[in-house]
Amino acid sequence: MVTRKYRIAVVPGDGIGWEIVPVGVEVLQAAAKQFGFELSTETFPYGAAHYKKTGQFLPDDALDTLKRFDAIYFGAVGLPDVNDTLPARLFTFKVRKSFNQYVNYRPARLLPGIQSPLRNKTPADIDFIVIRENTEGEFVQAGGFAHDDFDYGLALDTSIFTRKGIERVAHYSFRLAQRRQRRLTNITKSNTLIHSLAYWDKVIEDVSRSYPDVIYKKMYVDNAAANFVLHPECFDVVLTTNFIGDILSDLGGAIMGSLGLGASGNINPEKEFPSMFEPIHGSAPDIAGKGIANPIGTIWSGA
Ligand SMILES: NC(=O)c1ccc[n+]([C@@H]2O[C@H](COP(=O)([O-])OP(=O)(O)OC[C@H]3O[C@@H](n4cnc5c(N)ncnc54)[C@H](O)[C@@H]3O)[C@@H](O)[C@H]2O)c1
Repeated sequence: MVTRKYRIAVVPGDGIGWEIVPVGVEVLQAAAKQFGFELSTETFPYGAAHYKKTGQFLPDDALDTLKRFDAIYFGAVGLPDVNDTLPARLFTFKVRKSFNQYVNYRPARLLPGIQSPLRNKTPADIDFIVIRENTEGEFVQAGGFAHDDFDYGLALDTSIFTRKGIERVAHYSFRLAQRRQRRLTNITKSNTLIHSLAYWDKVIEDVSRSYPDVIYKKMYVDNAAANFVLHPECFDVVLTTNFIGDILSDLGGAIMGSLGLGASGNINPEKEFPSMFEPIHGSAPDIAGKGIANPIGTIWSGA
């Protein structure tokens, strides 16, 4: 029998990353032993602390180095004394885009033994997956400032939605729904973002016709936020944009009982590049070093 072997790049990042990721690696190694596969890990110090030392979140050769691994196991990046517009741009978004990890997979499930802050909701009620488009949309960071310090100063961010970008994440989501309860909710705001999100809806509706076995529904994000809290049982697979998904998936973590429980995968479904697995939360500087960070989201991301 050939033993399956995987090479994992471990990037704890900053703050509580150095507390929760080592715990996650321990659990992964225990699982490997139990279920007959092998993991070799190599740890990299990339992140905001690395930036303070070297001026770079990721060294020049880091993407080539990471590309050689089967997967990346990541904590979170960001430190209070480092400009907080840098961690996403110079680490998280850079890896997600360079490795074409266009699916952000974020399950929300009420785990056994945990009390949801939602009164009377049980594990049967909270079990859905948020699929967030992960490489374009509102987070492409195309924009700029002009005349910043004058009374006619302005700032601009442009969202970019492409047919190809929408189609591929939509196909992934419908196929996922086929393996679950066959219900997909597209969460949008096309009644006010009448160009970009109307196009998003149109392309998803086109894709939905290839999946007649999946019940397709569209919901506006304001209503969806209320339903995450009032009727989480109405969701199975949730498909949404980069920005909306960022917010709603934290709400998913919150109704599970803690941000520390939420897991995620930044996935390149075609496996042309390694995928990256990380808890949904950040580096939590307010509790870093206290030994109280919840490692469950990190352990689940490892799974
Ligand atoms: N993917 C990432 O690397 C990522 C994601 C989000 C935020 N950040 C960065 O993290 C830093 C802090 O951001 P923030 O405070 O907005 O968000 P955060 O997720 O780090 O913390 C929000 C709150 O949740 C708590 N929390 C988070 N994880 C927890 C855990 N495992 N166990 C128990 N409690 C936990 C924190 O103590 C804090 O009160 C910033 O620099 C931000 O840019 C990074």
